[in-house]
Amino acid sequence: MIAPIREFLRKNLPAQAYRSIDWVWWTGRHYLPRRGASLLSRRNPKVQSFPAKKTASKLKDQLGSINVIRVTKICHIMTWHGSDKGIGRHDYTKVYSALFHSLQDKPLRLFELGLGSGNPSMPFYMGENAKPGASLRGWREVFPSARIFGADLDRDILFQENRISTFYCDQLDQTAISSLWSQPEMQGGMDIIIDDGYHSFEANISFLDGSLKHLHPGGIYIVEDITRGALEEWRTVLENTYSHRFPNHEFVLVELPNAMNNDDNNMLVIRRNT
Ligand SMILES: C[S@@+](CC[C@H](N)C(=O)[O-])C[C@H]1O[C@@H](n2cnc3c(N)ncnc32)[C@H](O)[C@@H]1O
Repeated sequence: MIAPIREFLRKNLPAQAYRSIDWVWWTGRHYLPRRGASLLSRRNPKVQSFPAKKTASKLKDQLGSINVIRVTKICHIMTWHGSDKGIGRHDYTKVYSALFHSLQDKPLRLFELGLGSGNPSMPFYMGENAKPGASLRGWREVFPSARIFGADLDRDILFQENRISTFYCDQLDQTAISSLWSQPEMQGGMDIIIDDGYHSFEANISFLDGSLKHLHPGGIYIVEDITRGALEEWRTVLENTYSHRFPNHEFVLVELPNAMNNDDNNMLVIRRNT
């Protein structure tokens, strides 16, 4: 559907009617063609688990078997709300569909760092079309019984809504990370933690160090947007440090194939087993 027609329909139809039309358009434009293509060919992520000598990893096998050609309902939900996790330069929602499909009705607790600021003075801001809170609203729809939490460096975009609470955090500052986790509403840990904030190795490690202990047994911790240049540093610390410090966790680096993005379409997936 061309942009002016979509804009006309968005302005003139009741929200639910426009959403239904968008879903039909999405199904014809993205879902059915990719579903057809995925029956004929596969494009699987490259996966590596740590420690490397431990050969059996169910998580690695599950992630390595995802066919990224196929788009999913979570891709549509995230794109609808204005997040960039769906289709385009990133393929994370295909991974999330595989990881979360059996969890969707559970009353779980999900936290995401990085709300999607539109302020150019914020590192990794989302540009002029930013919709702060897009992915949190997407998660609220994906998990209808869940409590959703978020945090960001940009204090101006923090908000509270039904089932969503957000807080200030600077992930480069351990004091700010501790104070985030000491908020009364944040007590009780999380089933899912996603780092989509400041995309650098140091910032990701800083938040991981202050936050992994808050992941529930059986929970999943994700770092999005790992650049190709940072993969080797990650391999080194996962192999030599984290897999020893946290032997009850599985660590898998996932490199997602994408013709539009050969740089930062990579993620770390951690599962806490016990
Ligand atoms: C890519 S955007 C998040 C997009 C959002 N998760 C989505 O999917 O729509 C990155 C966010 O990280 C925030 N950010 C940048 N540096 C940060 C820091 N040091 N600590 C916490 N958040 C930071 C930015 O303000 C921005 O809102």
